[in-house]
Amino acid sequence: MTTALCHVSDIPEGKARGFDLGAQRYIVVRRDHNISVFRNECPHLGIPLEWQQDQFMDPDGELLQCSTHGALFLPDTGECISGPCVGQFLVSVPFTCEENRVVLGIENRT
Ligand code: FES
Repeated sequence: MTTALCHVSDIPEGKARGFDLGAQRYIVVRRDHNISVFRNECPHLGIPLEWQQDQFMDPDGELLQCSTHGALFLPDTGECISGPCVGQFLVSVPFTCEENRVVLGIENRT
């Protein structure tokens, strides 16, 4: 059995969306036509990044931003490049794209 988070087309270019799967929260981000999936946990305090639904990008739409203290993350690697957790990473989640769906890696299926 596979667990699909969403369709690739659900994520517009330069945007990110949040998805909950049981108790686990995920961010799916699409940047330069590449998809990345991270756990929705800021490495600073371990809390979700957004304060409004699906509001993950900075005002320029270039970087993921934590709403609590403003940490900025690269959308391809999840590396924090500014803020209190600089040098740390969002936890990257293995996935595949199957038939236009973002499908979690086996260790992330619930
Ligand atoms: S909780 Fe994310 S920057 Fe502090």
